[in-house]
Amino acid sequence: MSNYHIKNLEEYFQVYRKSVREPANFWEEVAEEHFTWRQRWDNVVSWDFSKPEVKWFENAKLNITENCIDRFLFNDGDRTAIIWEPNDPSENAKHISYSELHKMVNKFANVLKENGIEKGDRVCIYLPMIPELAAAMLACARIGAVHSVVFAGFSSKALATRTNDADCKMMITADGSFRGNKTIDLKGIADKALEECPGVETVLVAKRIEADIEMKEGRDKWLQPLLDEASDECIPEIMDAEDPLFILYTSGSTGKPKGMLHTTAGYMVYTAYTFKNIFQYRQNDVYWCTADIGWITGHSYILYGPLANGATTVMFEGVPSYPDAGRFWEIVEKHKINQFYTAPTAIRSLAKTSSDFVEKYDLSSLKVLGTVGEPINEEAWHWYNDHIGKKRCPIVDTWWQTETGGIMISPIPFATPTKPTYATLPLPGVQPALMDENGNEIKGNQVEGRLCIKHPWPGMARSVWRNHQRYKDTYFATFENMYFTGDGALRDDTGYYRITGRVDDVIIVSGHNLGTAPIEDAINEHPAVAESAVVGFPHEVKGNALYGFVILKETGESRNKENLRKEINQQISEKVGPIAKPEKIQFVSGLPKTRSGKIMRRILRKIASKNTENLGDTSTLLNPEVVDEIIENSL
Ligand code: PRX
Repeated sequence: MSNYHIKNLEEYFQVYRKSVREPANFWEEVAEEHFTWRQRWDNVVSWDFSKPEVKWFENAKLNITENCIDRFLFNDGDRTAIIWEPNDPSENAKHISYSELHKMVNKFANVLKENGIEKGDRVCIYLPMIPELAAAMLACARIGAVHSVVFAGFSSKALATRTNDADCKMMITADGSFRGNKTIDLKGIADKALEECPGVETVLVAKRIEADIEMKEGRDKWLQPLLDEASDECIPEIMDAEDPLFILYTSGSTGKPKGMLHTTAGYMVYTAYTFKNIFQYRQNDVYWCTADIGWITGHSYILYGPLANGATTVMFEGVPSYPDAGRFWEIVEKHKINQFYTAPTAIRSLAKTSSDFVEKYDLSSLKVLGTVGEPINEEAWHWYNDHIGKKRCPIVDTWWQTETGGIMISPIPFATPTKPTYATLPLPGVQPALMDENGNEIKGNQVEGRLCIKHPWPGMARSVWRNHQRYKDTYFATFENMYFTGDGALRDDTGYYRITGRVDDVIIVSGHNLGTAPIEDAINEHPAVAESAVVGFPHEVKGNALYGFVILKETGESRNKENLRKEINQQISEKVGPIAKPEKIQFVSGLPKTRSGKIMRRILRKIASKNTENLGDTSTLLNPEVVDEIIENSL
């Protein structure tokens, strides 16, 4: 029996029970089955959630790129590592073999070194979905630099905050990017951010849209000529198991994003293991995850997990709606995709379009379908199952987080019977617990509570970059000796888990994790605004959408409200990013507050979702009269 290819439910339970009984032995076997280790570990795991401190594969030495690339050169160098599918379907796709990727990454790594990047330095990567993005990340890992990828849809302000927080010495960006029928001035956004980032000494610029951009003398360099001249040999830096691999920012309940720090060996073992098991990837399959590499899904399941298995992984530059709503299915047919992994929000928006967009393509190559990032509603699940999987392909509804590094709760295809809207069972090595508000574990089935994890797993983030206290406070302080996910979940009568949503001030909009605090901060910076509160409400396509309640200053009262809405949205686009723009903005004279001045978001959430029948007790409010006014004028 292999830990990797679990064939049926009985085998799952056997492996699972072993992983709980003997976690160290279980993960040791997984780590021994594949991988190139330069030195073996002394100890599989040591941990103390009160500090919190977690170490996996202590004192092992390795380089993750050697595991993701070099390991396959001897026998399979010609195998395709990455299929790059451009935004415009009339442009040729690129098939990059493992040997070509090896050369590309080595050249890039040498360029980084020649430009002063050393082991431990942070490099900010702000690139569209082009092969240079994958190569840049792997090049950092090759020489032991820490990459911090910032999603190329983020604004200049968001980019600057992240670049400065990680103290990046270098930024890698492009002259622009394509998005459907639009181009985006990425370099312009980067330049604006860089005005506030004095620590960045060098900016490498990839050419993608042939835009006429400004290059700042002494700081900006075109990437391609440097790659052309660089040597394609680069000996990988030997890294310690717990050396940092990357930082990736995620929203929190307070204004500042958290730089989640992932380390080398545990992350590699975990993403490789989960990828193989959850997608039941077989040699020569073609796997496609539609996420952007700027999110954790792309880090773990476009790049590291697949490459660590010698897989062929697709990287798509475009959007699902361009040139029309059939694009995903056209790509499935074109590259004969076997495993397809996407977000519920994409499924919901494509399900609304004519079925002709699906029917005209041959989807018979598909074997496994996946979803990630937010709960999938029953209707979308059935559409996916009926129209895309033709009822033949198991759907893996994968629950996890930026912080967990890899998938935690998910069906294993053909072994775990699926159930719409349920992420089903924990993976081997994952020990979930549901907790009540008093900090007690809720045992048994048919129960609901706050989702925690009891035992460390190799892929977990080890800290918040330069703010270990915040790591402790956010994840380990709510429940003693537990990692707290911030999600609520229920366990049904068979032990299956269903994620019910966030229990904090984070809202998942179209699969993007948004904290309300930074959006409120952006709104409040508008000169006409006195105060604001942002909440989420259910939305047919986006899952959740944002609703902003805004109190104006006297100066704002007389202003045209439509113009004000536009200005506020503009402000949010600039400070946080266009994805954070509220669906609705209501101007109010006050916000419901407790006597201690805390905004009662619970009431606002009910109003936003038009569920005002039972508002609960409002008598403790400082200003109960404002509630009626808000309901009356609600949008
Ligand atoms: O609320 C959960 C939701 O997304 C959050 C994590 O967001 P992020 O760190 O951006 O990572 C997204 C990609 C892994 C979780 O706390 N979430 C993620 N997957 C699911 C989900 N909610 C329900 N079902 C899922 N399958």
